Amino acid sequence: MSSLGNLDIVLVGPASPKLGHSLKEYGLEVVDLEYKVFPDGESYLRIPIDVKGLNVAILQSTYPPQDKHLIELFLALTAAKEQGAEEVVAVVPYLAYARQDSMFKPGESVSLKTIIKLIEDCGASAFVTFNVHKADRMKWFKIPGYNLSAVKAIADHLMELGLSDPVILAPDKGAVHLAEEASSILKAEYSYLEKRRDRETGSVQTFYRDLNVSGRDVVIIDDIISSGSTIANVAEIASIQGAGRIIAACIHPLLAEGAVERMRRAGVSKILGTDCIEGSFSEVTVAPILAEALRTIV
Ligand code: R5P
Repeated sequence: MSSLGNLDIVLVGPASPKLGHSLKEYGLEVVDLEYKVFPDGESYLRIPIDVKGLNVAILQSTYPPQDKHLIELFLALTAAKEQGAEEVVAVVPYLAYARQDSMFKPGESVSLKTIIKLIEDCGASAFVTFNVHKADRMKWFKIPGYNLSAVKAIADHLMELGLSDPVILAPDKGAVHLAEEASSILKAEYSYLEKRRDRETGSVQTFYRDLNVSGRDVVIIDDIISSGSTIANVAEIASIQGAGRIIAACIHPLLAEGAVERMRRAGVSKILGTDCIEGSFSEVTVAPILAEALRTIV
């Protein structure tokens, strides 16, 4: 494997156009993949340049519609490999299906394993993502895998909001490392809550505890916001305890239907996420972190 210092071009997939074009500001060469949908709904994809002998990165996030974005990724990886690219790096800022990373009930498909296998089988020679749900699952890749962190970009953005004596809260133990990383940049206190999710209904229970947030701004940070229930539970507890502003921050703002309203009702005044998922709350860009990584990894 060569190193991404030798990266020739970033091929930008249909799920990551803004992030892809932001990479140009950091000196990377970027070309859009050609993409269309046939009348029956199938995806068409074309690499509009000759990639023979080149080291390419394929940038394609896999947020909803996950299955479609994954197919586009697989088509692009396979096409690049078959057209003679030397290295084909799969850059997937948000990796779909990463939360089903165990057989929680007998007989379940461990979908993360299938996705990893497909990425590798399509010819990827390395894999790059941001804040994958469980970092240790990167070991499941046989190819080199890089799990970048977007927390610095989020913390830098939070810094500009002029927070008052902030407390950074992780909504569960799995997010403590995010709160810790953010708090070390913001020079703020951090804490966490205990959460339990019912695997049948998906409902989330968060255990009440004293958070010492009275009159202080609160940032709740998580890797993903999907239904918003995890954040809403913490926001309610912080509100009851007299918190000032309550900000919900995440790397991957999936924001399923009703999530924004649910968090607002619970007292969240601001929601922010990154362009790992391109949407209306993706105000933090990971472009500088990604550009730096793409320059130094291969
Ligand atoms: C799960 O452990 C994740 O880290 C997030 O907390 C979870 O995906 C958030 O989901 P929701 O917004 O549906 O509560």
